[in-house]
Amino acid sequence: ASVIEIALHAGVCYGVERALSMAYAAAHDAAQPVHTLGPLIHNPRVVCELEREGVGLADSVDDASAGTLVIRAHGVVPQVIDEARDRGLHVIDATCPYVKKVHAAAAKLVAQGYQLIVVGESGHPEVEGILGHAGGAAFVVSNVEDLDSIDLCRRVGVVVQTTQTPERLAQIVSALVPRVAEVNVINTICKATHERQASAADLASRADVMVVVGGKNSGNTRRLAQICSERCASTHHIEDDAEIDPAWFEGASLIGITAGASTPAAHIEQARSVIARAVGL
Ligand code: F3S
Repeated sequence: ASVIEIALHAGVCYGVERALSMAYAAAHDAAQPVHTLGPLIHNPRVVCELEREGVGLADSVDDASAGTLVIRAHGVVPQVIDEARDRGLHVIDATCPYVKKVHAAAAKLVAQGYQLIVVGESGHPEVEGILGHAGGAAFVVSNVEDLDSIDLCRRVGVVVQTTQTPERLAQIVSALVPRVAEVNVINTICKATHERQASAADLASRADVMVVVGGKNSGNTRRLAQICSERCASTHHIEDDAEIDPAWFEGASLIGITAGASTPAAHIEQARSVIARAVGL
């Protein structure tokens, strides 16, 4: 008989799960329209489900003329919240508490007189929000070469976009050390991405078949599928349960399931029950 195991860390992270439940709760309670400012999660199925529950999508504050505006997990610049409140919107700030820690760390370093460097992806909404909260001049650095274009001060403070890798941070910090008198690093990396990859690798190395659930266009789901296929030859990346083929599981003892950061727990559970039926569990 087969056993189905779900990776220890799989699917949406704490911050996105929290933002989703705040949005659903707002729709449940509100008499007026509820909008999220930008998609809460990069998953069209979830955007449709939210829509059905009465949570619309606003591309900008202008799009939400009344009611409630939900700020997504990776946060915004403070001016966006001020502007929404000035317009009489009820704001639900679902910024992830870990992202709030980055905001606070950035503001603290700037207040203490450090020149601020944000290790991250320039233009990413989370990074824009961090820059907005830093409240001063700050530089976004995504690799060591980016440092060459900065006129470095004696005292440099560093914070990190939550999804960056410790390796990237370490490279940039070690390039900074010989160039300045002081480097104050506040490591604001969130473990969620690394944990998902590590538990996918662990499960895939033991499983006979791996099913990776999540958008085909989701970068982090594709990365999980790649990690799994390096360790388990029979790895299948599915977006929808209908893609599951019972033939995959013939003779398999251990069937592993993992899911990208944009896959809600309910979708993982659906895939699990489809697989369970396919193998007669
Ligand atoms: Fe998710 Fe918050 Fe980490 S949104 S990736 S738990 S910083």
